[in-house]
Amino acid sequence: MEILRVENLKKYFPVQKSFIEVLLSKELKFIKAVDGVSFGVKKGEILSLVGESGCGKTTVGRLITGLEEPTDGKIYFKGEDVSKLPKDRRKEIYRSIQIIFQDPYASLNPRMKIGEHITDPLLIHDIADNDTARKMAIEMLERVGLVPGEQFFNRLPYQLSGGQRQRVAIARAMVLNPEFIVADEAVSMIDVSLRAAILNLLLSFKEEYNLSMLFITHDLSVAKLVGERIAVMYLGRIVEIGDVDDVIHHPKHPYTAALLSAVPSFDKRDLKVDIRGDVSNPIDLPSGCRYNPRCPFADDKCKESEPELEGDDFHSFACWHPLDIEVE
Ligand SMILES: Nc1ncnc2c1ncn2[C@@H]1O[C@H](COP(=O)(O)OP(=O)(O)OP(=O)(O)O)[C@@H](O)[C@H]1O
Ligand SMILES: [Mg+2]
Repeated sequence: MEILRVENLKKYFPVQKSFIEVLLSKELKFIKAVDGVSFGVKKGEILSLVGESGCGKTTVGRLITGLEEPTDGKIYFKGEDVSKLPKDRRKEIYRSIQIIFQDPYASLNPRMKIGEHITDPLLIHDIADNDTARKMAIEMLERVGLVPGEQFFNRLPYQLSGGQRQRVAIARAMVLNPEFIVADEAVSMIDVSLRAAILNLLLSFKEEYNLSMLFITHDLSVAKLVGERIAVMYLGRIVEIGDVDDVIHHPKHPYTAALLSAVPSFDKRDLKVDIRGDVSNPIDLPSGCRYNPRCPFADDKCKESEPELEGDDFHSFACWHPLDIEVE
């Protein structure tokens, strides 16, 4: 069963202009951060979302968690169109979808005790009274490896390491007993030596509660570790999506291959696709396939018309000249 489905999701941010520019120009310009994205996540499944900086990953995560309103498109949670639900039901849904952010230093309030970060959501959502919330928070702190929980409860964020703060962020999300987690670069800012432990903590919750997850990362080797399915995003669109092993070992889109060629741990005998140039401007998108200015295989067709995602649940890609290669 699909727990989440997004259909043709779009988020356009108006470009800020100076007063003079507003007076002189007629057209409003937009940053097309997310520009027609569709995918589904099954119950208990992890979908990794990868792509270079600025391609729209965080915006997708924020749309799903209700932190941002879509410009267009639909979000279905357990089959229900979220935008059509009454306020109470929406609040309930957003309680079951929690987000863990990238920066463990910015996501905690420096003046709030560690424990209060976890009791707060319980009190806000009317789940527990003060005493019960405190007990639940201490239990959750211990569950994420901050032992003894009682002691960690009273500490302030500056007294914790980056890895420990990220454990608090996970505890805060998990205490609401969510069904869906958006983990936005949840291990990117953590010391490499601690990354595996935090990743394993997240995965242990996933196993225990049969959680579904959108795992956002710019690092394909982390996406491979996390496993299951993967979606590759470029300039607001998904260009390739499918089973992790198939996408990583038989990439069809030159952009996926280029991302792979940048990861040291993959054997690149068959990969002759270097990543070149920079991401195009998301305001004035190139015509045709939006990857064409950087693609070594682009021809006239690629400059004229934009390919749609085609394939099946197992593997789909949006490319006029898909690759036929193997990456070990
Ligand atoms: N609130 C906003 N207002 C205007 N533009 C925005 C806003 N949020 C994001 N953008 C723009 O939308 C595009 C996509 O941003 P987003 O943060 O979703 O990318 P990302 O893939 O998460 O990048 P990163 O890997 O750096 O985190 C970028 O061009 C960004 O500048
Ligand atoms: Mg981001």
